[in-house]
Amino acid sequence: MNDTFLKACRGEKTDYTPVWFMRQAGRYLPEYRAVRGKTTFLELCKSPELCTEVTLQPINLFGFDAAILFSDILIPMEAMNLKLEFHEGRGPVFPDPVRTQKAVDELIVPDPDATMPFVMETIKLLLKELKVPLIGFSGAPFTLATYLLEGGSSKFFYETKKMMFESPVLYHELLQKITDCTSLYLQAQARAGAQALQIFDSWAGVLAPGDYARFALPYVQSIIKDLRQVTDVPIIYFANNGSTLIPNTVTAGADVLGLDWRINIKDAIDKVGNHAVQGNLDPMALFLPQEALEKRVKQLLDDASQAKGHIFNLGHGILPQTSPDKARIVVDAVHRFSGK
Ligand code: CP3
Repeated sequence: MNDTFLKACRGEKTDYTPVWFMRQAGRYLPEYRAVRGKTTFLELCKSPELCTEVTLQPINLFGFDAAILFSDILIPMEAMNLKLEFHEGRGPVFPDPVRTQKAVDELIVPDPDATMPFVMETIKLLLKELKVPLIGFSGAPFTLATYLLEGGSSKFFYETKKMMFESPVLYHELLQKITDCTSLYLQAQARAGAQALQIFDSWAGVLAPGDYARFALPYVQSIIKDLRQVTDVPIIYFANNGSTLIPNTVTAGADVLGLDWRINIKDAIDKVGNHAVQGNLDPMALFLPQEALEKRVKQLLDDASQAKGHIFNLGHGILPQTSPDKARIVVDAVHRFSGK
């Protein structure tokens, strides 16, 4: 097994810089679109054979140093007793948003092995095939709660902040239930064999630091504390748009902090203390011509040279419009410039 990625997560010395991309299995790949064309997104997520196939696609095509389980952060929300739909061009939709005491009371904290056996099965199938580590993942409670409250993606997070400020007790109850679900879900992934875990806090950056400290961070801390009791797999915490939150996010308890591209990685490294870092190329940089793109990769590697550990990644998910050639160019450049 190529454990370069795991070593970098733990801050151990590596022969070269490992690289993977958030959303590396996805619509920018014609191979993914071919599989996806035969089924719906939710059905795909529930088929261990197809999930295994699409997880492996970018690994086999480009030689990434880690694989990420193919699923979605919202899958466990369906297991909590919610109707979940994915609409073409609009993304996830919860037709019955969770905005009342009654709706919060009706949420269940599911047994992950019983309600999401397809996820654990996918992990087991992947472990037989992979020669690089497998990353399991979940959403962070604050981010998951935004989808439940807004009924889908949002721009202004009106319902989220309304409940946060008008009914904080109820909001905490909602966050606690999602936390209980997520904690069990990540533990189950580790038991099934996931070799690292990433927590996606995609919307953390919409919060004022004080509200982040009250409504987001404690729940991530609690999940990580639970995980530490049962597993020693590296934990990555990615708070998107979170560079101003670093003084808070360093206390989450993760091994690795994921960084978006809005901060120079060198400045972030000065602030993260004893953590490895993951990131942080602007996903749009993959639209640069090859030479300019390679220059950016080189610059980023140089800027990250003083990190305790660096896992090269994009600062957020790869965009569907990206040419697959550019993924190959970045992976090759990271490996070449870092001495592989
Ligand atoms: O390769 C991988 O990274 C593994 C698979 C993965 C998906 N979603 C597949 C997916 C992962 C790790 C996620 C995480 C996820 N899902 C996040 C956190 C990361 C982030 O982007 O901030 C969030 C917020 C979601 C929720 C979600 N799922 C949205 C908002 C959407 C619609 C927008 C979009 O990007 O399409 C999805 C759908 C989704 N999840 C797709 C894929 C491949 C596209 C669905 C399709 O094939 O039609």
